[in-house]
Amino acid sequence: MTVFEPRIIALLCNWCAYDGADAAGRARLDLPAQVWEVRVMCSGQVSPGMVLKAFEAGADGVIVLGCQPGDCHYKEGNLHALKRMVLLRAVLEPTPVHPQRLQLDWVSAGQGHRYAQVVNDMVETIRSLGPLAAGHSREEPLNGG
Ligand code: FES
Repeated sequence: MTVFEPRIIALLCNWCAYDGADAAGRARLDLPAQVWEVRVMCSGQVSPGMVLKAFEAGADGVIVLGCQPGDCHYKEGNLHALKRMVLLRAVLEPTPVHPQRLQLDWVSAGQGHRYAQVVNDMVETIRSLGPLAAGHSREEPLNGG
C-alpha cells in the first residue's frame, strides 16, 4: 500500500510569512517536504483564480499565509485576503473540493515555530482528506473527523 503524500501550495506574503518560513528553516525545525512555497508580495494579492489554478494544477491543498492582523505592509491586504478566502471557501462548499483544502493563517517574521506548526497541521488535514483526484462525489475526511 502506498502512503499518500499530499501536494500543498503555500502562498507566503513577502514581508512576514516568508520570513517566518525562513526563520523555521534557520532554526532547523521539522518542516514537511510536501509543501511548495510560493512568495507573493501580500496575502491580499492572492486571487481566487490563483487558488483555483493551484488545485487545477494538482495541488491537494492550498494555504495562504500573511502578516498578523494589523501588521500588513499594505495596511489591509490581509483583511482583503480574509474576506476573499471566506467567500472562496463558500464557493467550494458545493463542489467536490472540500473547503478544508483551502486555509488562511497568519505568521509574522519571527514566528518560525508557528510557521512549522501551521504547515505541519495543514499536511495532517490534507492527509486525512486524501488525494483530491480520488474522485469522491463529496469529500469527507478519511478518518471520519
Ligand atoms: Fe503580509 Fe500584506 S504584506 S499580508
